[in-house]
Amino acid sequence: MSRALIVDDELSMRMTLSEFVRRDGIECDVAQNAFQALSMFQENSYDLLITDIVMPKMSGIELMEKIREIDSECKIIILTGEPTVETAIRAVQSQANDYMAKPVQKDDFLHIVRRNIQIKQLSDERKWLLLENERYQRHLEDMVDQRTQALQKSMSSTITLLSQVIEYRDPYTAGHQRRVGNCSAKIAEWLGLSKDSIENVRIMGYIHDIGKIVVPSEILSKPGKLTYPESLLLQSHSLAGFKMLSDVNIPPIIAEAIYQHHERIDGSGYPRKLKGDQISLQAHILMVADVVEAMTSHRPYRPSLGLDVALAEIEGNAGVLYDHTVSKACLELFRIGNYTFDDRQYEISMPI
Ligand SMILES: [Fe+2]
Repeated sequence: MSRALIVDDELSMRMTLSEFVRRDGIECDVAQNAFQALSMFQENSYDLLITDIVMPKMSGIELMEKIREIDSECKIIILTGEPTVETAIRAVQSQANDYMAKPVQKDDFLHIVRRNIQIKQLSDERKWLLLENERYQRHLEDMVDQRTQALQKSMSSTITLLSQVIEYRDPYTAGHQRRVGNCSAKIAEWLGLSKDSIENVRIMGYIHDIGKIVVPSEILSKPGKLTYPESLLLQSHSLAGFKMLSDVNIPPIIAEAIYQHHERIDGSGYPRKLKGDQISLQAHILMVADVVEAMTSHRPYRPSLGLDVALAEIEGNAGVLYDHTVSKACLELFRIGNYTFDDRQYEISMPI
């Protein structure tokens, strides 16, 4: 129900007008002066203020100015027995919504009251709708955030699982993927790539050998040199990894870089003998990190070759087998940044 406050120093006026308003279905309070009105306004909320202008101590205009500081939405109708142009101007300046001269005619008065109450109801309704809309938008954004986080969590678990599965089958390379992933992320960071690109490269490293799941364990752990057919089977892991990852919901750029991680820029790599720019930046990073990590690790068929030999391999073949810029970043990371391999499994934040 709408609520009005009538302020007039004349008792008969207060009684008559408040009765008109109440009979019209509007809750109505009365105040005999501006001070009383002001304190009632501070304690209650009103949709409509109807005030006399000429009152002792504080005029209706002063009251209106004070009330506007408390409530800018309330509709205000002013009444006066002495209408002058100056009073009217000041009333408008103080943001009165309507102006009525005394003596008041019941029908005219109620017409103005109803019009102002209706405008106030419409503006309240609009405000409520805007708030509801804002609340709904916030709810939607929260829901999208929650779903995105859940999706990222599930993808992160899938990547961790995939990364672990292959290490169970190929214990000699335990930690290899994590070290390659973390090193690739550091090279990407050294190159100044975006946060999303760095995370993508880390994920690529963590699962780059996932295709080895199709390679028999005897070949993966064979201590001696592989025969030609065995090498072909081992090499099939790039394509196998690509196919597996293409079927799951991870960014295609990851699957493609895994497909390319054994290519070389002179076309001497496998499986597609891609050259130079045909190889993605992510794959260039991955292959350099993969080579350095593999050469510095022990294998069933040889001991570690050491970091210096691994870095010399990259330096000697920068621009021949490996991308020149990526090789330079890798060498600087180890030589200037004193990077050491890190086999921790970091929380993955999958760019979606
Ligand atoms: Fe590989």
